[in-house]
Amino acid sequence: MTVIEPGRLFRDQDGRPVQLHGAGVLFIDGRFWAWGEDKRSGGTFSAIACYSSPDLAGWRYEGDALSAGTGDLAPGRVVERPKVLRHPASGRYVMYLHIDSADYADARVGFAVGDHPAGPYEYRGSVRPLGRLSRDIGVHAEGDAGYLLSEDRDHGLHLYRLTDDWLGVDSLVSTTLADHGRHGYESPALVHAGGLYYLFGSDLTGWATNDNRYATAPALAGPWSPWRLFAPEGSATYDSQISAIVTVHGTERTSHVYLGDRWLPDRLADSPPVWLPLHIGGGRARLEWHDRWSVDPRTGSITSHHAPHRAHQEEST
Ligand code: DGJ
Repeated sequence: MTVIEPGRLFRDQDGRPVQLHGAGVLFIDGRFWAWGEDKRSGGTFSAIACYSSPDLAGWRYEGDALSAGTGDLAPGRVVERPKVLRHPASGRYVMYLHIDSADYADARVGFAVGDHPAGPYEYRGSVRPLGRLSRDIGVHAEGDAGYLLSEDRDHGLHLYRLTDDWLGVDSLVSTTLADHGRHGYESPALVHAGGLYYLFGSDLTGWATNDNRYATAPALAGPWSPWRLFAPEGSATYDSQISAIVTVHGTERTSHVYLGDRWLPDRLADSPPVWLPLHIGGGRARLEWHDRWSVDPRTGSITSHHAPHRAHQEEST
């Protein structure tokens, strides 16, 4: 049985640490596909790695979806938080990226397109959405409409509608600020559940973790509620930063899985995933810690697995 152990790196089919940092996930024809930052060269770009899994726990490396090249993708630059949507009309996969210089001054969003989840993706360049800075990103799709979440420092966290081909930014839908009003949240993720939108984000503390928060709204244009905690106060979101939320549409229930990163700034490639069940409903969100757990992609049910009692077994032998 393959289980998720938050705080431990996944290994791929060859035993190598899975590079799903800042991950994005899509469920395609019965399989989870995931894209992540390959941090084996440290903080700057080497590749966006692609993996697939039947259960979010056992991962197969599918190759690099995007590799270092020139311009925006030159080694030494920052390429973070790959998020992929499938464009409904064309069936093509569109990858969104935080594109930046090493000092995070460029602050742009990049677009790439592929015919297969694993790629290869053709890079289409980057923009500053409607002229604004764009750092951490998230994505959301609803029928023909695609949306981009984009963090713009003291101007807030913006939600933009994408152009019809989903390869550009069309218009601003809403902007949120943290309750203290000084800036918006980063590393955004959006979920639609039970007729409400839940918007998640992290405070701006670099690689250090903080108490992440969420707000709700009846419509994408708002009004957005005050921000609330979804993990125990002071736990720094179980020492992790949100990256994305996966919705598992099962036959018995719809489950949500929180994908977070516990960044190790000096050893970024070893930063373990902190992936946990996220309970969403009735306007509330709550992250629940499990040492070992699994989600059944067919039924949507979540099972907690007891850790093997090694110490106890050793005592009794
Ligand atoms: C916070 C962002 O969420 C990360 O993706 C990364 O850009 C770090 N900042 C770098 O300090």
